[in-house]
Amino acid sequence: MPGPQMTSNLMDEVRTGLLANPRRLPPALFYDAEGSALFERITELPEYYPTRTERDILERHAADMLQEAGTDLELVELGSGSSTKTHLLIHALLSRQPDGSYVPIDVSATALKHAKSALLEAFPRLEVRPIHADYLGGLASLNHGHARRLVIFLGSTIGNFDPAQATSFLRSVRAALQPGDALLIGMDLAKAPTILIPAYDDALGVTALFNLNVLARLNRDWGADFQLEGFHHVALWNAVESRMEMHLESQARQFVRVAALDLEIALSVGERIHTENSYKFRPGVGEAILHDAGWLLERTWTDEQKWFAVHLARC
Ligand code: AVJ
Repeated sequence: MPGPQMTSNLMDEVRTGLLANPRRLPPALFYDAEGSALFERITELPEYYPTRTERDILERHAADMLQEAGTDLELVELGSGSSTKTHLLIHALLSRQPDGSYVPIDVSATALKHAKSALLEAFPRLEVRPIHADYLGGLASLNHGHARRLVIFLGSTIGNFDPAQATSFLRSVRAALQPGDALLIGMDLAKAPTILIPAYDDALGVTALFNLNVLARLNRDWGADFQLEGFHHVALWNAVESRMEMHLESQARQFVRVAALDLEIALSVGERIHTENSYKFRPGVGEAILHDAGWLLERTWTDEQKWFAVHLARC
């Protein structure tokens, strides 16, 4: 039976994707409770450099970032932000102003609840006003006071969109804001495939479990009968598109039924289901996307190896 987060939109996307050639599944399927816990484990793996690299950049430069963003700020985060990274930014905010508010926007009510209680405990002077919605829906529902807003969008989540989608998404973010508001966005940069591939195919196999969890989830929530041992996690570097890709490769000819969709498909040996793209931005590409989306780039902070960039852009 469809679980609570299984909207009919998502069902249509899954049906269309499973019938497409090549087959695909939407990355939104990754983040049920199981998948979110697996993602947390990924962020602690030695091979998965993006989280700690971005965190190091914020550790060094959070104060600078908040100063650049301006005075009398309200923080709005796309995502639920119980992470160290959010704490660093809120700490920097409250070092500059006597109080402040933080508005996390997330589709997961549980994630919002946990983030709120952790943040109130750490920052008694903080006002936390969670919005339970998707990113653009949540931004549209912000009521415009006089505070300047700083929207934060970390982790290179923007890399899950292709460049055209990323541009139109960032244009919509901008349209929901007011002149003078700002965006702090993390983007993972292109680097050697010898670094990239292990980050998406770690030795412990946590990323493989994270990928396979989308099939486990369809089994749990939609009465599908994917045999997980019949699929192999594939992580590959697509140099033409400058992106990491994750796929699930069928190890045998097999039939799969998804009861909730009344759908049956036949997979051939070696056939792949494409589950995720993570774009890695070459020099100037992230900047061009922000520019095309109508943002004015003010500052960029990176690590010494130039593996990851955090941009501050103005409305
Ligand atoms: C959370 C979407 C940024 O693309 O690197 C981690 C998700 N996928 N390992 C990413 C992910 C495989 C992650 N994002």
